[in-house]
Amino acid sequence: MTDLLFGLITDFVYNELNNDYSGHDHFHAKRVYENAGKIIESMKEEVSQESKEIILIAALVHDTIDSKLFKNTNKQLKKVKKILKKGKLKKNSIKEVLNLISNLGYSKNHEATTIEEQILEDADRLDAIGCVGIIRTIEFGTNKKRKFYSFNQDDKNVTIAHFYEKLLKLKDGMHTEYAKNIALGRHQFMESFLYEFYKEIKD
Ligand code: ADP
Ligand code: NI
Repeated sequence: MTDLLFGLITDFVYNELNNDYSGHDHFHAKRVYENAGKIIESMKEEVSQESKEIILIAALVHDTIDSKLFKNTNKQLKKVKKILKKGKLKKNSIKEVLNLISNLGYSKNHEATTIEEQILEDADRLDAIGCVGIIRTIEFGTNKKRKFYSFNQDDKNVTIAHFYEKLLKLKDGMHTEYAKNIALGRHQFMESFLYEFYKEIKD
């Protein structure tokens, strides 16, 4: 990626996500970018230079079009397109980045089939589990004015329910070997966290 393009993208992502307090800020974008880089590194010859660039750009910008954060996702997509154009990314690569980020997301139920989709999804989901995953989940819940837990075990409107609805399921859906390995440790950490939490509130 050229310095011009990287600079334009990181400034754009900062401006769009700096005010997010639901776990989707520019730090999340940076971590997903780093995760994607490490996954690509572990698969070296399987990922072309062109795909690598597309995945890394998608990792940085993916949440600037999230419908949970922005009402008008079409407008957001247009902004991304404009930045990538300004950074002189090839027309075809721009199209691929926009496609990739449009299909990303747990709730979209889109099956990741291409290597680009799988790497991006793994990179994003690695950031949803482990220590960082726990912090993001609490941030998200608090941002929605939800309590962390309730003494009523059937209360689904509490943040802790999200561990069972999604977070504890993510390790089994990883595609790449690198992400599967990292996910194991992060999954165990979440199990320990929950074990300790229930222990403390019962003590
Ligand atoms: P994706 O980007 O895969 O669609 P989301 O943006 O829905 O995933 O979720 C990203 C992260 O935001 C989750 O891993 C979690 O930390 C937090 N989050 C999303 N939905 C909830 C929820 N209902 N309760 C608590 N945290 C949530
Ligand atoms: Ni994300």
